[in-house]
Amino acid sequence: MTTNEALNDFIRQCQQRVELSLERLLPNTTTLPTRLHEAMRYATLNGGKRIRPLLVYATGQALGISRERLDTPACAIELIHAYSLVHDDLPAMDDDDLRRNRPTCHRAYDEATAILVGDALQTLAFQSLCCDQHMQADAHTRLAMVETLARASGSRGMAGGQAIDLEAVGKELNLAELENLHIHKTGALIRAAVRFSTQLSATAEKSLTTRLDRYAKCIGLAFQIRDDVLDVEGDTETLGKTQGKDIAQEKPTYPSLLGLHGAKEKADELLQEALQSLEDFNTEADPLRWIAQYITARKH
Ligand code: IPE
Ligand code: IPE
Ligand code: MG
Ligand code: MG
Ligand code: MG
Repeated sequence: MTTNEALNDFIRQCQQRVELSLERLLPNTTTLPTRLHEAMRYATLNGGKRIRPLLVYATGQALGISRERLDTPACAIELIHAYSLVHDDLPAMDDDDLRRNRPTCHRAYDEATAILVGDALQTLAFQSLCCDQHMQADAHTRLAMVETLARASGSRGMAGGQAIDLEAVGKELNLAELENLHIHKTGALIRAAVRFSTQLSATAEKSLTTRLDRYAKCIGLAFQIRDDVLDVEGDTETLGKTQGKDIAQEKPTYPSLLGLHGAKEKADELLQEALQSLEDFNTEADPLRWIAQYITARKH
């Protein structure tokens, strides 16, 4: 098998695992309250790229952890991510009508339902981490993972980043402020995805987990820089969300501060730093290398 075929296999298999596991974790649509459960499934099982779950599996592979143990942590991160998108699209936040090429949750249902979908997806993520048996983790490890996810999602993680994002509308941030915004609203969850797998590993040496964390920090920031770039030069159909919203809503972004060229250069620098962080890893870390490259070159 060539490296490319092996990678494609890895990605396909992990994406299948996360779809099946999400399907299993989400309440079915015949369980009361049926409309809320239908909306939760609508917001989650709708063709996201599943980058955060892929990171959980890829880090797990680099550390020799079986995929069965990673299914629930992968889903927990994706559930938080799906919740963050539902709330991000609400009229009180980015007021978006299109997500993953379909009407946003509050458009397909209503605002109150979308708020509750976010609430319920968030708690389902934590419940899954607490209860899942396939993770084969002791209570101490589970507690550490719950803390990781809570910190990454809360007021000093993603939710805090979203608050900074909303406060920054119409303002000009300097580079340090913009970086702070991006590492919170997007970087924190991406970092948590990698951290989950290091927490599940009984044998990972400190020096390796530090390198993986550096990798995660770099690609987390690069991910949001690419998102900003695509908002300028992508198209709505490929993106699956309305292009040009950042300029229309006067959001400070990397292209608005550094220009498109400068933003891409910054993402490339971060890619190089991420790859350097993996130098001590063998081919088992190839999926992590691929994800870093994909993040900075993706079209959607
Ligand atoms: C979009 O995330 C929101 C950001 C944090 C930039 P993704 O680009 O991962 O969205 P999906 O999950 O693939 O739809
Ligand atoms: C979203 O950032 C970050 C979170 C959802 C936490 P954006 O607002 O840029 O994401 P898109 O562009 O709507 O996907
Ligand atoms: Mg937003
Ligand atoms: Mg948005
Ligand atoms: Mg965006």
